[in-house]
Amino acid sequence: MFESIRVRAGTNAVLVLGYFQGEGLDKASKGLDKEGAAAAALKRAEATGDSGRITETFSGKRRVLLVGMGKREKFEVGALRNIAAAVGRKLNAVKEAAAEVEFGGILGRVDAAEAGQAFGEGLGLLGWVCDQFKGKATARAERLKLSVHSSSKAFNAGMERGLALAESANFTRTLSETPPNIATTGYMAAQAQKLARQTGLSCKVFKGADLERERFTGLINVGKASENEPCMIRLEYRPKGAARSSKPVVLIGKTMTYDSGGLSLKVNNGMVGMKRDKDGGCGVLGAMHAIATVIKPRVPVVALLAVAENSISDEAYRPDDVLTYRNGVTVEVTNTDAEGRLVLADAFCYACEVEKPAYIVELSTLTGGVVVALGGTYAGLFCDDDRLRRKIEAASEASGERVWRLPLHQEYRDMMKSPVADILNSNPNRKAHPIQGAAFLSYFVEEGVPWAHIDIAGVHAVEGETGPFVKGPTGWGARLLASLLENE
Ligand code: BES
Ligand code: MN
Ligand code: ZN
Repeated sequence: MFESIRVRAGTNAVLVLGYFQGEGLDKASKGLDKEGAAAAALKRAEATGDSGRITETFSGKRRVLLVGMGKREKFEVGALRNIAAAVGRKLNAVKEAAAEVEFGGILGRVDAAEAGQAFGEGLGLLGWVCDQFKGKATARAERLKLSVHSSSKAFNAGMERGLALAESANFTRTLSETPPNIATTGYMAAQAQKLARQTGLSCKVFKGADLERERFTGLINVGKASENEPCMIRLEYRPKGAARSSKPVVLIGKTMTYDSGGLSLKVNNGMVGMKRDKDGGCGVLGAMHAIATVIKPRVPVVALLAVAENSISDEAYRPDDVLTYRNGVTVEVTNTDAEGRLVLADAFCYACEVEKPAYIVELSTLTGGVVVALGGTYAGLFCDDDRLRRKIEAASEASGERVWRLPLHQEYRDMMKSPVADILNSNPNRKAHPIQGAAFLSYFVEEGVPWAHIDIAGVHAVEGETGPFVKGPTGWGARLLASLLENE
């Protein structure tokens, strides 16, 4: 929406004030409302105080936006993301390029830096533009260079941080949006390498003979039918002075550049949108961007992206094939459309055997079942390690990227047993699909390694304008994982 967003005082800045439902202006806001125009405007019936509802007035020539914050008792900092988006949309509509945001008085005990961060995130996410696939037949709209500023230093610093985190999430969104004929497996590897160069991460891409050597059987088989060869991308962040013995946090992402279903082909247009089956990996890349540029945690972080295209050809892997993994587990393929877990298994094996992780968090658009269960409101979280789960839930709370715990139980693991091999990649009984995915993955995690699987199939994209998002990708995971590492 915007050309750029900067935190600095602008000329003729619109004054943005907040108020709680049923309350008038606070003292500080009254001090800024010298002519009483804002107080008068709040008497209008339209000033309902609903969160994000904007009432406009003028104080002399100066535009004033009064933004509702909902009920005081119900207010939480995260609401400022959507409030910022509402303010940003209004500024854009009236073509005002500068705003002075003064919430200092009404926020009371709320931490100003936290409030600024949420506000900055909301503006930054709203500002995302991805028009590189528009051609000659589309006229370019002129875009504002927005300046935002507050008299609170802490709020300004928070906004800077929020804008920076939004940039990481927007990087994720742009990758998600990139069509599968452009965002091929090789393109994803090139993007990871470019990110590494720009931010000082190290990057290694396993492909071709490397995959054989590492016995990445999932990637080899799932990727076989495509001319775009599969790969495993490994990125590493190392803090300065990290002890050699310090265990890394490992982040894993499913990066299916396209999921046609393979020979178990998707039907009835079920394929449309499957360019976004790489969004787990895109979320992890966004998180690595934030980790390298904003968070800079004290612990090492390794990212593993399992990258392939699930396609069809005479060389495609098939239902009935049996795959042997590097940890010795054998898998009978019953459905080539349950491909995500097959490539993720390679990453889990490698992470446990080679990286010796402190813990593993994995993101994937794994099942349609999780969309049925939780819709677009929560991602499905599978994690039986209480400490790790609490960390993830705290990061979820802070980032506003919601997770809801679903169960893992031995009975679900038993459901995955195969008459031919050790396990099936999918039990055709149609039961508990999202849990089947998690149960499958559990066979590739070494005893004692805390791990979490987050199924983001319902939350990685929205169908229409929602909060700071437009129809399309949300960049889900970049901010949650950044927040997780911030607390390490
Ligand atoms: N990538 C899909 C899951 C998906 C579905 C993501 C809809 C986003 C929206 C995954 O690879 C898949 O095809 N899952 C199957 C699993 C089944 C064959 C066991 C599904 O959910 O139907
Ligand atoms: Mn699939
Ligand atoms: Zn898939």
